[in-house]
Amino acid sequence: PRTIWLSRHGESSYNLEGKIGGDSDLSERGFKYAKNLPELVSRYIPNNENLEVWTSTLKRTQQTAQYLDYPKKTWKALDELDAGVCDGLTYEEIQKLYPEDFKMRDENKFEYRYRGGESYRDVIIRLEPIIMNLENQENILLITHQAVLRCLYAYFMNVPQEESPWMKIPLHTLIKLDPRAFDTLVTKIKADI
Ligand code: F6P
Repeated sequence: PRTIWLSRHGESSYNLEGKIGGDSDLSERGFKYAKNLPELVSRYIPNNENLEVWTSTLKRTQQTAQYLDYPKKTWKALDELDAGVCDGLTYEEIQKLYPEDFKMRDENKFEYRYRGGESYRDVIIRLEPIIMNLENQENILLITHQAVLRCLYAYFMNVPQEESPWMKIPLHTLIKLDPRAFDTLVTKIKADI
Protein backbone atom coordinates (compact mmCIF):
# COMPACT_ATOMS: atom_id res chain seq x y z
CA PRO A 1 0.00 0.00 0.00
CA ARG A 2 1.00 3.60 -0.47
CA THR A 3 2.85 5.72 2.06
CA ILE A 4 1.78 9.14 3.29
CA TRP A 5 4.34 11.67 4.43
CA LEU A 6 3.36 14.50 6.77
CA SER A 7 5.14 17.57 8.02
CA ARG A 8 4.27 20.73 9.86
CA HIS A 9 5.55 23.91 8.25
CA GLY A 10 8.87 25.13 9.62
CA GLU A 11 8.78 27.30 12.73
CA SER A 12 7.06 30.62 11.98
CA SER A 13 7.50 34.02 13.58
CA TYR A 14 4.04 33.58 15.17
CA ASN A 15 5.18 30.26 16.66
CA LEU A 16 8.08 32.13 18.29
CA GLU A 17 5.76 34.81 19.66
CA GLY A 18 3.24 32.23 20.89
CA LYS A 19 0.50 33.66 18.65
CA ILE A 20 -2.05 31.40 17.01
CA GLY A 21 -3.30 31.44 13.43
CA GLY A 22 -2.25 34.33 11.19
CA ASP A 23 -0.22 34.18 7.99
CA SER A 24 3.30 34.91 9.19
CA ASP A 25 6.62 34.06 7.52
CA LEU A 26 8.98 31.34 8.63
CA SER A 27 11.53 32.19 11.32
CA GLU A 28 15.24 31.71 10.64
CA ARG A 29 15.02 28.19 12.04
CA GLY A 30 11.94 27.53 9.97
CA PHE A 31 13.86 28.50 6.82
CA LYS A 32 16.64 26.13 7.84
CA TYR A 33 14.13 23.31 7.94
CA ALA A 34 12.84 24.32 4.48
CA LYS A 35 16.40 24.24 3.13
CA ASN A 36 16.98 20.83 4.72
CA LEU A 37 13.80 19.27 3.38
CA PRO A 38 15.02 18.36 -0.15
CA GLU A 39 17.89 16.37 1.36
CA LEU A 40 15.59 14.70 3.90
CA VAL A 41 13.11 13.82 1.16
CA SER A 42 15.72 12.35 -1.17
CA ARG A 43 17.29 10.38 1.67
CA TYR A 44 14.12 8.93 3.20
CA ILE A 45 11.38 8.94 0.59
CA PRO A 46 11.88 6.10 -1.90
CA ASN A 47 10.64 6.54 -5.51
CA ASN A 48 10.47 10.27 -4.92
CA GLU A 49 10.55 10.90 -8.67
CA ASN A 50 6.74 10.61 -8.59
CA LEU A 51 6.28 12.58 -5.36
CA GLU A 52 3.62 15.29 -5.11
CA VAL A 53 3.75 17.99 -2.45
CA TRP A 54 0.54 19.45 -1.04
CA THR A 55 0.48 22.65 1.00
CA SER A 56 -2.13 24.99 2.43
CA THR A 57 -2.75 28.48 1.03
CA LEU A 58 -0.76 30.02 3.90
CA LYS A 59 2.74 31.42 3.40
CA ARG A 60 4.43 29.32 6.05
CA THR A 61 3.60 26.02 4.33
CA GLN A 62 4.53 27.33 0.89
CA GLN A 63 7.82 28.73 2.18
CA THR A 64 8.53 25.34 3.75
CA ALA A 65 7.95 23.64 0.38
CA GLN A 66 9.79 26.23 -1.71
CA TYR A 67 13.03 24.28 -2.27
CA LEU A 68 11.28 21.02 -3.11
CA ASP A 69 11.42 20.42 -6.84
CA TYR A 70 8.25 18.31 -7.21
CA PRO A 71 4.76 19.02 -8.55
CA LYS A 72 2.78 20.98 -5.96
CA LYS A 73 -0.85 21.50 -5.11
CA THR A 74 -2.30 24.15 -2.82
CA TRP A 75 -5.47 23.38 -0.86
CA LYS A 76 -7.58 25.79 1.16
CA ALA A 77 -8.85 22.69 2.99
CA LEU A 78 -5.33 22.28 4.43
CA ASP A 79 -5.32 25.74 6.07
CA GLU A 80 -4.94 25.85 9.87
CA LEU A 81 -7.99 25.63 12.13
CA ASP A 82 -9.65 29.05 11.94
CA ALA A 83 -9.46 30.67 15.36
CA GLY A 84 -11.99 33.40 14.39
CA VAL A 85 -11.86 36.40 16.73
CA CYS A 86 -8.85 34.82 18.51
CA ASP A 87 -6.71 34.72 15.38
CA GLY A 88 -3.35 36.40 16.08
CA LEU A 89 -3.68 36.26 19.88
CA THR A 90 -1.57 34.36 22.42
CA TYR A 91 -3.28 31.85 24.73
CA GLU A 92 -2.73 34.29 27.62
CA GLU A 93 -4.52 37.05 25.69
CA ILE A 94 -7.40 34.70 24.87
CA GLN A 95 -7.74 33.75 28.53
CA LYS A 96 -7.89 37.44 29.48
CA LEU A 97 -10.24 38.60 26.71
CA TYR A 98 -12.51 35.55 26.50
CA PRO A 99 -12.27 33.71 29.84
CA GLU A 100 -15.51 31.77 29.28
CA ASP A 101 -14.39 30.58 25.87
CA PHE A 102 -10.98 29.63 27.18
CA LYS A 103 -12.60 27.45 29.81
CA MET A 104 -15.05 25.90 27.36
CA ARG A 105 -12.26 24.99 25.00
CA ASP A 106 -10.29 23.43 27.82
CA GLU A 107 -13.32 21.33 28.79
CA ASN A 108 -14.12 20.12 25.29
CA LYS A 109 -11.39 20.92 22.85
CA PHE A 110 -12.83 18.70 20.12
CA GLU A 111 -16.26 20.38 19.96
CA TYR A 112 -15.29 23.93 20.96
CA ARG A 113 -15.78 26.29 18.01
CA TYR A 114 -13.93 29.63 18.14
CA ARG A 115 -16.27 32.61 17.73
CA GLY A 116 -16.36 33.22 14.01
CA GLY A 117 -14.05 30.25 13.50
CA GLU A 118 -13.82 26.47 13.64
CA SER A 119 -13.71 23.46 15.93
CA TYR A 120 -11.65 20.31 15.46
CA ARG A 121 -14.86 18.62 14.35
CA ASP A 122 -15.27 21.30 11.63
CA VAL A 123 -11.70 20.65 10.45
CA ILE A 124 -12.30 16.90 10.20
CA ILE A 125 -15.34 17.55 8.01
CA ARG A 126 -13.51 19.87 5.63
CA LEU A 127 -10.66 17.36 5.38
CA GLU A 128 -12.91 14.71 3.82
CA PRO A 129 -12.07 15.70 0.20
CA ILE A 130 -8.37 15.62 1.07
CA ILE A 131 -8.69 12.11 2.48
CA MET A 132 -10.63 11.00 -0.64
CA ASN A 133 -7.94 12.47 -2.92
CA LEU A 134 -5.20 10.85 -0.87
CA GLU A 135 -6.63 7.42 -1.64
CA ASN A 136 -5.69 7.88 -5.32
CA GLN A 137 -2.16 9.11 -4.68
CA GLU A 138 0.95 6.99 -4.83
CA ASN A 139 3.51 9.15 -3.15
CA ILE A 140 2.50 12.26 -1.34
CA LEU A 141 3.97 14.74 1.13
CA LEU A 142 1.56 17.02 2.98
CA ILE A 143 3.02 20.18 4.49
CA THR A 144 0.37 21.71 6.67
CA HIS A 145 -0.53 22.82 10.20
CA GLN A 146 -0.67 21.42 13.72
CA ALA A 147 -4.46 21.05 14.11
CA VAL A 148 -4.92 19.73 10.55
CA LEU A 149 -2.13 17.20 11.01
CA ARG A 150 -3.59 16.04 14.31
CA CYS A 151 -6.86 15.27 12.51
CA LEU A 152 -5.17 13.46 9.63
CA TYR A 153 -2.89 11.57 11.99
CA ALA A 154 -5.79 10.44 14.19
CA TYR A 155 -7.71 9.37 11.08
CA PHE A 156 -4.91 7.19 9.72
CA MET A 157 -3.97 5.85 13.16
CA ASN A 158 -7.59 4.91 13.85
CA VAL A 159 -7.66 6.98 16.99
CA PRO A 160 -11.14 8.14 18.14
CA GLN A 161 -11.89 11.60 16.67
CA GLU A 162 -12.29 13.16 20.12
CA GLU A 163 -8.62 12.42 20.83
CA SER A 164 -7.33 14.23 17.74
CA PRO A 165 -6.76 17.60 19.54
CA TRP A 166 -4.11 15.96 21.71
CA MET A 167 -2.01 14.13 19.14
CA LYS A 168 1.70 15.03 19.33
CA ILE A 169 2.93 16.52 16.05
CA PRO A 170 6.40 18.00 16.61
CA LEU A 171 7.96 20.72 14.47
CA HIS A 172 10.80 19.94 12.03
CA THR A 173 9.92 16.27 11.78
CA LEU A 174 8.88 14.14 8.81
CA ILE A 175 6.19 11.65 9.75
CA LYS A 176 5.84 8.53 7.63
CA LEU A 177 2.54 6.65 7.71
CA ASP A 178 2.36 3.18 6.19
CA PRO A 179 -1.28 2.07 6.21
CA ARG A 180 -1.47 -1.74 6.43
CA ALA A 181 -4.41 -4.13 6.59
CA PHE A 182 -5.17 -3.70 10.29
CA ASP A 183 -3.01 -0.84 11.47
CA THR A 184 -0.68 1.92 10.32
CA LEU A 185 3.07 1.93 10.88
CA VAL A 186 4.53 5.27 11.98
CA THR A 187 8.10 6.45 11.60
CA LYS A 188 9.24 9.90 12.71
CA ILE A 189 12.34 11.45 11.19
CA LYS A 190 13.64 14.47 13.09
CA ALA A 191 15.53 17.04 11.01
CA ASP A 192 18.98 17.90 12.30
CA ILE A 193 18.68 21.69 12.51
O1 F6P B 1 0.31 27.51 17.55
C1 F6P B 1 0.30 26.94 16.28
C2 F6P B 1 -1.08 26.50 15.89
O2 F6P B 1 -0.99 25.88 14.64
C3 F6P B 1 -2.14 27.62 15.84
O3 F6P B 1 -2.17 28.34 14.65
C4 F6P B 1 -3.40 26.83 16.10
O4 F6P B 1 -4.49 27.61 16.50
C5 F6P B 1 -2.94 25.87 17.15
O5 F6P B 1 -1.60 25.54 16.84
C6 F6P B 1 -3.76 24.61 17.25
O6 F6P B 1 -3.39 23.93 18.43
P1 F6P B 1 -4.38 23.91 19.68
O7 F6P B 1 -5.66 23.31 19.14
O8 F6P B 1 -3.68 23.02 20.67
O9 F6P B 1 -4.58 25.30 20.17
